[in-house]
Amino acid sequence: MLTIRREAAEDVDAIRHVNEQAFGGATEADLVDQLRSRGVLTISLIAVQDGEIIGHIAFSPVAVESGNSRFEAITLAPIAVLPAYQRQGIGSQLVRAGLEECRQLGHEIVVVLGHPEYYPRFGFAPCKPRGIGCEFEAPDEAWMVLELREGALAGRDGTVKFQPEFHDAV
Ligand SMILES: CC(C)(COP(=O)(O)OP(=O)(O)OC[C@H]1O[C@@H](n2cnc3c(N)ncnc32)[C@H](O)[C@@H]1OP(=O)(O)O)[C@@H](O)C(=O)NCCC(=O)NCCS
Repeated sequence: MLTIRREAAEDVDAIRHVNEQAFGGATEADLVDQLRSRGVLTISLIAVQDGEIIGHIAFSPVAVESGNSRFEAITLAPIAVLPAYQRQGIGSQLVRAGLEECRQLGHEIVVVLGHPEYYPRFGFAPCKPRGIGCEFEAPDEAWMVLELREGALAGRDGTVKFQPEFHDAV
């Protein structure tokens, strides 16, 4: 049986392991640790099966800036599932649970820089037509946004600025 729950202090090493194995390196694991240590890991959920942590998803705040205006959104990054457990729906469950947690916390706008074939199934759509830019260079189709409240982006645009930790990771 698969359970999705918030991370606890004793899960930190296993979360590192999942990210290292899924991404084949330490960059994303380091990113998660750095966000956590600075207190900006807003949401960190794990997928647990038979007592083993096999998946992880994180969200952190971003600022959407335009001229003198600025509003807050949240970004989904990173998400990781241990290679042996991929393509079994675990990533999808993590995304859905993470988005529900975002809703519960009152977040209205989620951005993601990721696989363009993966995220549209959760409602994400390209940012460009909505006037939402990215501080990093990204292919238009990989830079996506989701409104958790319909109309949340109405009359708003700008460029997304990530937490500084992302500058070493992207
Ligand atoms: C991306 C990831 C989290 C998805 O988790 P998962 O448990 O395998 O996902 P699910 O089983 O819910 O969904 C599987 C779907 O995702 C797609 N998918 C998985 N990895 C993908 C990838 N690297 N690129 C594009 N699509 C991918 C599969 O094609 C499959 O699509 P289908 O349902 O149309 O066949 C997982 O593959 C992973 O950890 N990858 C390595 C790390 C990574 O790339 N993270 C995302 C960075 S944006």
